[in-house]
Amino acid sequence: MLKRSSLPWLAAAALLILPVAASAQAPLVREGCLGCHGANGAGASGVPGLAGRDAQELRALMSAYRANERPATIMNRIVRGYTDEELAAAADYFSKLR
Ligand code: HEC
Repeated sequence: MLKRSSLPWLAAAALLILPVAASAQAPLVREGCLGCHGANGAGASGVPGLAGRDAQELRALMSAYRANERPATIMNRIVRGYTDEELAAAADYFSKLR
């Protein structure tokens, strides 16, 4: 059970956590990619690397998956789980990884 005396602590914790959660949105998107594309986006067995590639190219590839214009086993379904803004942020992030 919650003790009355713990409520101020919960309120303080919420104030600390909320801004972090909002600013962590872009990292959360790319974390959804790392499991398959490798911890540094360097690729893994059967999965192409993304790190250090042109952001425009990565965006174009993901648009093509969304439009079913590029053959895929899984990426065509994955891109549908993200907004254009999220995919653009992920492309930007991976393009800057070395
Ligand atoms: C379940 C595993 C998995 C996840 C999660 C995943 N990918 Fe992929 N990705 C693949 C595979 C496998 C391919 C190769 C195409 C295919 O078979 O679908 C690929 C291909 C790509 C390509 C094209 C690369 C090329 O050179 O052709 C891009 C860009 C890409 N993924 C971006 C992402 C981004 C961004 C995320 C996170 C939002 C992500 N992927 C999440 C497995 C995954």
